[in-house]
Amino acid sequence: MHDISAGLRHPDLKQALYDDGAVIMADTLLTLHGEPHRNRRKLEFRVFRKDYFHWYERTVFPDTVRSSLSDDLAAGRSELVDLGYRVTMNLTADFAGIDRPEQSAEETGRLLRLVATFSEGATIVHSKRPKDDVRAEVRAAIADFEPHFLSASVARRRALLADHAAGRIDEDALPRDVLTVILRDGDPTEFTPEVLTREIGFYLQAGAHSTANSTIHAFHDIYTWAEERSERWDQLREDPIFFQRCVHESLRLHPASPVAWRAATCPMSLPGAGEVAEGEMVEFRLAEANRDPAVFGPDADVFNPYRTVKAPTLPFGHTFGTGVHTCLGRDLDGGAVPKGDVDPETHPYGTITLLLRELFAHGARPDPTDPPQISTKTERPNWGHYPIIFDPKKAWR
Ligand code: HEM
Repeated sequence: MHDISAGLRHPDLKQALYDDGAVIMADTLLTLHGEPHRNRRKLEFRVFRKDYFHWYERTVFPDTVRSSLSDDLAAGRSELVDLGYRVTMNLTADFAGIDRPEQSAEETGRLLRLVATFSEGATIVHSKRPKDDVRAEVRAAIADFEPHFLSASVARRRALLADHAAGRIDEDALPRDVLTVILRDGDPTEFTPEVLTREIGFYLQAGAHSTANSTIHAFHDIYTWAEERSERWDQLREDPIFFQRCVHESLRLHPASPVAWRAATCPMSLPGAGEVAEGEMVEFRLAEANRDPAVFGPDADVFNPYRTVKAPTLPFGHTFGTGVHTCLGRDLDGGAVPKGDVDPETHPYGTITLLLRELFAHGARPDPTDPPQISTKTERPNWGHYPIIFDPKKAWR
């Protein structure tokens, strides 16, 4: 656990997990190293400020959840993979800066299919399909994404930035998203059209894929755990801070990226890995470290939201990464880790907790007639099909 923290902070280890996925990941924030990474992160970090997460969680997200859920609630059933992606697609499109002018299910579906292809390209190293087939699909998806989504979003932002420069509109009227920040302050020689497309495509898929999968794991873990004793459902309903603790426990058990890979840019000695030659690859086993009994106790493999975790270890372990590439969406999805007594009314819970509470409040349960299935498309242990029903007898209100 602690060796990983030290290793991921080493300045001479560079990102290596996405080399195979260069078709969509080359020159994106996640794959840059050293000074170029520092500068890019500083630029884009302007969007990811805490006050924004808080505002987003309180004002924008509840509407997103309501509109994404309304048809499913009326039908009395949903499918979590589809729902998870629909909800998180809106979330990451807002941050990336991709407009959805039609606001139609068809438009979201189209963006989703493109982003699912980007995701498969980014994690190509874990794909079970022929890699060249995946790369060809990613190229086709990029060719579709640019004219249908990116160009109009760029044009609208350029017009707003021109209005702002001419004093016709206030700063507040500018969108707060990655695309606006890049168009306003990014170096045009760095952000060639190709790099801009990949960077925005990276933001769309980085947040969507991981959030959707983590949400389904947490639904399954919480449901399975609560079903063992009926009073657990009462605790989940009554205590949202405890509910968030359950989500963090699930995030620990199922990190969206089970491993991080880095390549040594010079010879070095690493705690836990020993001597590493220049160019050698180091694998950081995040999922394994998150189940280390020395850190999380003898029941580290089990979902136990009552466990206590000592600082500086976070309750979700290395799930959001560590060091210079630490996830920029961490507080958005996971919320703030409560320190001492916090006010449940104002505490930032994170979007995963909020969505799951909404589902359980409507009596969501796995569909007993159609059991969930693990995805066969990737070596990552994700759910591929998770039908649920809304049982009015189990609803919280
Ligand atoms: C449960 C959900 C999520 C998980 C588990 C997760 C996990 C991670 C991890 C492990 C990394 C670091 C990878 C490495 O070190 O190689 C990372 C980086 C990143 N994540 Fe997330 N992420 C999640 C959601 C999001 C969301 C919602 C967004 C944005 C809307 C986001 C944006 C980013 C960005 C921009 C980086 C790159 C940071 C950098 O390279 O400097 N993530 N994420």
